Amino acid sequence: MSIRFVTKTGQIDQNLAPVTRMVCAPRTPVICKLLKRPRIGGERNPAEMPGLLHLTECDGVLQDTEVHVWHADLQMPLDQIESLYRLLDPEEQARASRFRVRTPRDEFVVSHAFVRLALAKYLEIDPRDVHFQAGENGKPEIADGDNLRFNLSHTHGAAVFAVARQRPVGVDVERIRDDTEAMELAERFFSPAEVDWLRSQPVSARVAAFFTCWTGKEAYMKARGTGLLAPLARFSVIPHPGNEEMRLEVLDAPEQSASWSIRQLDLETNLRCALAVQNGKELIVRVRKWPWSRAGM
Ligand SMILES: CC(C)(COP(=O)(O)OP(=O)(O)OC[C@H]1O[C@@H](n2cnc3c(N)ncnc32)[C@H](O)[C@@H]1OP(=O)(O)O)[C@@H](O)C(=O)NCCC(=O)NCCS
Repeated sequence: MSIRFVTKTGQIDQNLAPVTRMVCAPRTPVICKLLKRPRIGGERNPAEMPGLLHLTECDGVLQDTEVHVWHADLQMPLDQIESLYRLLDPEEQARASRFRVRTPRDEFVVSHAFVRLALAKYLEIDPRDVHFQAGENGKPEIADGDNLRFNLSHTHGAAVFAVARQRPVGVDVERIRDDTEAMELAERFFSPAEVDWLRSQPVSARVAAFFTCWTGKEAYMKARGTGLLAPLARFSVIPHPGNEEMRLEVLDAPEQSASWSIRQLDLETNLRCALAVQNGKELIVRVRKWPWSRAGM
């Protein structure tokens, strides 16, 4: 089974939120892309999930017991995009120049600048001085061996960045598309337990449920660094209604199942986002929208 990941960008009205398209061709499955100290009594974010805490500042302080998650809007004026472009290294700039369509190019630039600006806070260096290396299967890591582990995900119009110390993290964000063939895709890619779970959901909620499950699966694969090279049907990530924690079952390595924490993060109504952290069940997850204005943008 081969899976191709394609980002499809239709003509985008700048006044409208960009859309993510999920397309499944009959024989070729194509899935389109598809901080700081605890502040007791601090400002509450309405988007927080129960059990998650609002991240009040980006002052670069990340405890061993925390995971920080920043989510950012990717749409911004052209002059600001060009300023952000100058933060990227030559390799990133070369990647940006290979996009043939303006919007995904701009979103690539903004999301990579976002990662640099955020990591620069934690590393206390200039964003241009953050150096990356590729781990196995291309997972980006910080080149100097710092104990920070991070992961990025972007979908049309939004990006999510997660960072922790010592332990691998993975994150996935997807924009819900109502025209997604949820059961068809699940039957091709999901484990039998996930297919059963999805079928048990009300028909009207299946598309959103599909994305809930999918983001959990992808966050786990990204945390492990395998990406979509992992055998998708050999593990299950099953959501629990009303609970952000998802249940992982790895068929060929049951001992893995208990050592990962996979959670849904409720960021926006039409987004699904999941975070996977190794040995992360006791960690505090702090979530916040990235303050572009305070990042000098
Ligand atoms: C990583 C992968 C899951 C991305 O899926 P996606 O849904 O299109 O994208 P997301 O927005 O969620 O994540 C993309 C980001 O994940 C990060 N990433 C790249 N490879 C990764 C990996 N193996 N594991 C975890 N994260 C990875 C990058 O920061 C990437 O951002 P960029 O493309 O702008 O540089 C997919 O590309 C994949 O499976 N890659 C690994 C397998 C592979 O093809 N390897 C070949 C290179 S050696």
